[in-house]
Amino acid sequence: MLHPKPTAGDTTWFTHDRFGLFIHWGSYAAAARHEWVQKYEQIPGEQYRKYFEHFDPDLYNPREWARVAKEAGMKYFVITTKHHEGFCLWDSQYTDYKAPNSPAGCDLLTPMVEAFRGEGLRVGFYYSLIDWHHPHFTIDGVHPLANHPDAHQMNQSRDMKIYAQYMRDQVRELLTQFGEIDVLWFDFSYPQNNHNGLKGKGRDDWESEKLLDLVRELAPKAMVNNRLDLPDVSADMHTPEQYQPSEWIHHNGEPVVWEACQTLSGSWGYHRDEHTWKSPEQLLHMLIDTVSKGGNLLMNVGPTARGVFDDRAIAALKVYGDWMKWNARSIYGCSQAQYSAPTDTRYTQNYKKNRLYVHLLAYPFKHLHLPELAGEVEYAQFLHDASEVRFRETGAFEHAALESATPEGALTLSLPVLKLNVEVPVIELFLR
Ligand code: GLC
Repeated sequence: MLHPKPTAGDTTWFTHDRFGLFIHWGSYAAAARHEWVQKYEQIPGEQYRKYFEHFDPDLYNPREWARVAKEAGMKYFVITTKHHEGFCLWDSQYTDYKAPNSPAGCDLLTPMVEAFRGEGLRVGFYYSLIDWHHPHFTIDGVHPLANHPDAHQMNQSRDMKIYAQYMRDQVRELLTQFGEIDVLWFDFSYPQNNHNGLKGKGRDDWESEKLLDLVRELAPKAMVNNRLDLPDVSADMHTPEQYQPSEWIHHNGEPVVWEACQTLSGSWGYHRDEHTWKSPEQLLHMLIDTVSKGGNLLMNVGPTARGVFDDRAIAALKVYGDWMKWNARSIYGCSQAQYSAPTDTRYTQNYKKNRLYVHLLAYPFKHLHLPELAGEVEYAQFLHDASEVRFRETGAFEHAALESATPEGALTLSLPVLKLNVEVPVIELFLR
């Protein structure tokens, strides 16, 4: 098993729990055309304000969100306390652009944190480094005003030092007013970006060292992600986004703790007309594949501006719940296995319990040969119903013409011809 080097934050719970819920919720939910709508449509602040003025989540019930997340098998959540648009979900004393001043009329974050903690989930705060609302955030290539003819001139009166202090003030609020926070998820740096001479931003702009020092001082156990543009400092986790890594993520040649973040459809924020919702098969494969490579999955929901998860999101989360109810043992406490899995399967392994989990991504016919496992397995069963799966080892076949021979060193599982009623069946092998 690969062992990432310890970092400053506490990652032990994280690498055990494996599965979390990302929530992207802000005034962009009202536009319902992606959380980047302000940038994509180059909407000036005065016009964009209509979403703030109409943000009225009258059906908001965070206890319901927390219940749904828990039922899906998720063990932590990460909420966008502030996304790029700059709108804050909590009652920050450093801005007026916050939920209490919108028709929502109150701090939306405190009840959310309480509700998720109440269901036993850990708490992560996403905080956008980018801010399209703050008057001192200089216009750059990712800003809605990037193509404004006076962009350079407007930047003359903007001072990133003031903005960097604003971020520290807000992060202090987030880390002192909501109890112990488990994850700080900063987003994101783009120092190489250059748009008509408007330079991208990185550690000097954010004053990332100071920001990180503040987090370590106020929340020494909290995990911090890798998007602060601090290449020489070990982040507690790496965060590949919207793709499935082909292997365990490495940084500077070393395996690291990592978390893939993914969307149910093609948008993070609520997007009414986006239709690339992933199939049940894809949803489950993503989770299994991620854990089989030693990573976590942070799956995202974008609640509507009325404050609910829409039907499509609920249906997708139910796919996880239905599967995790019976198969969670192959996810929690598991990591990349020490053996290599045959085609169309993924392995995960629980090293403490000495069990190996075979996930059947495509259902085979009758026999499944598991290389390297002859002599290694004491007992095998389907995980969902604990029904025995019989197996044989090298040389144990009787009739060569009727039975596929067990390759040297392999163990052959005998499977029912019909796939059982489980989206991805899992076989639990008790190792010797
Ligand atoms: C990107 C996007 C953002 C999203 C994030 C999640 O950086 O800017 O909208 O919040 O990815 O990883």
